[in-house]
Amino acid sequence: ERPSETTASDAASPLKASDATGHINWDSLGFGVEHIAPIMFRATYTAEDGWQGGLEPYGPLEMLPSAQVLNYGQSVFEGMKAQRSARGRIVLFRPEENAVRMRAGAARLSMPPPPMELYVEAVTSAVRANAAWVPPRGRGSLYLRPLLLGTGPILGLGPAPAYTLVVYAAAVGCYFKCGQLTPIDLIVEERFHRAAPGGMGGTKAAGNYSPVLMTQLAAKEQGYNDVVYLDAKTDTYLEEVSSCNIFTVTGRTIRTPPLEGTILPGVTRRSLIELARARGYTVEEVPIPVADAMEADEVFTSGTAVVVSAVGSITYQGRRRQYGELGRPSPVTLEMYEALTSLQQELDDDPFGWVVPV
Ligand code: COI
Repeated sequence: ERPSETTASDAASPLKASDATGHINWDSLGFGVEHIAPIMFRATYTAEDGWQGGLEPYGPLEMLPSAQVLNYGQSVFEGMKAQRSARGRIVLFRPEENAVRMRAGAARLSMPPPPMELYVEAVTSAVRANAAWVPPRGRGSLYLRPLLLGTGPILGLGPAPAYTLVVYAAAVGCYFKCGQLTPIDLIVEERFHRAAPGGMGGTKAAGNYSPVLMTQLAAKEQGYNDVVYLDAKTDTYLEEVSSCNIFTVTGRTIRTPPLEGTILPGVTRRSLIELARARGYTVEEVPIPVADAMEADEVFTSGTAVVVSAVGSITYQGRRRQYGELGRPSPVTLEMYEALTSLQQELDDDPFGWVVPV
C-alpha cells in the first residue's frame, strides 16, 4: 500500500528540510540554479596522469581562452536525480546507464570516456556530500549535472590535450509547469530540424541544445511550452521535444520514435518502455507520422528533468489537437507517471534493480 505523504519512514529520513540551508522553501522548487549545492566533484585527465580529482567547493572552472571546449565545443553532459525514498534513504536511478551514455558521447566527440567506476564514484560522492540539498520525499530531487569538457588549450582543429569531468548539483522541483502533471502545449516545428541522419542527435552534446533555443523561444512567445521536431529527411515523423523524448498512446499501444542516431537515447524513455511492457501495454519503437500523433488518444514526453509530462495539445499546420480534458493528464500518462515515480521513490517494489542507494 502506498504510504501517505508524511509517514514513519519520512520521519526516519536522516535529514529534515530545516537541516539544509534553512532558507530552501521545498514547496517552491522550480528547475534552476537558485539552490545549487555547495560541493562539486571535479577530475582532470591527461594522457600522462590519467584521471585525477575529487570533491571541492562549487565554484568557477579556470580555463584559457584557447580551451578546446570554448573554441570547438568538445562537451557532453548528463542529467540524473537523487531522491529520498519511502525507505528513508537517498537513491539514484540507473546511474550506470548515464555512465554508458556519457562514454558513448565521449567517443563520438573524440574525448576520453571516463571509466564507469569513476563516473559512479563522482555522482555518488557528490550526492553524499550534498545530502542536505536532497529535498524531502515527493517534494523534488537533487539534480546532478555531470559535464565532460575538453578544457586543454588548442588552436588548430583537433581534440583537447586535457579534459575535465565535473559533477555539480542543485535542488530542483518541476521542469515545465508545477501542479501534478499539468499538461503542456506543443507546436510542431516546421522550419528547423534538431538533428540529421549521420549527425550527433543521439549524443548528449551541449551543441545539440542551443540551436533549439531559437525555435523554443519563438514558440514560447506564441504561448506554447515547447516545440516538437520532425525528421530531417521527410518532415513526416516525430523526433523529440527540445529537452525530452515523446510518446503517443492509442488504446493499449504506446509508441515512441526508434533510436536511429538522431534521437537522444533517454534513460527515462527506455525505463518507460520496459515499465509499460511489464504492465501489459504493447510498446512499439516505430516512426510516428505527425498525422498519426494528431489522432492519438494521448501524448506524453519523458526525460530525467521532466520525468513524465502530459501533453495537452499539439498544433501542426495551424490545426490544434487537444488531448483529453483541458488542464488534466490523460489516464495512461498518469499511470506511467505514477508507476515510474513510485518505483523511483521506492513506494513500489523495484523488480528491475534500477534503484541504487548512495
Ligand atoms: C534532462 O532531462 O536531465 C536533461 O538533461 C535535459 C535538459 C535539457 C534539461
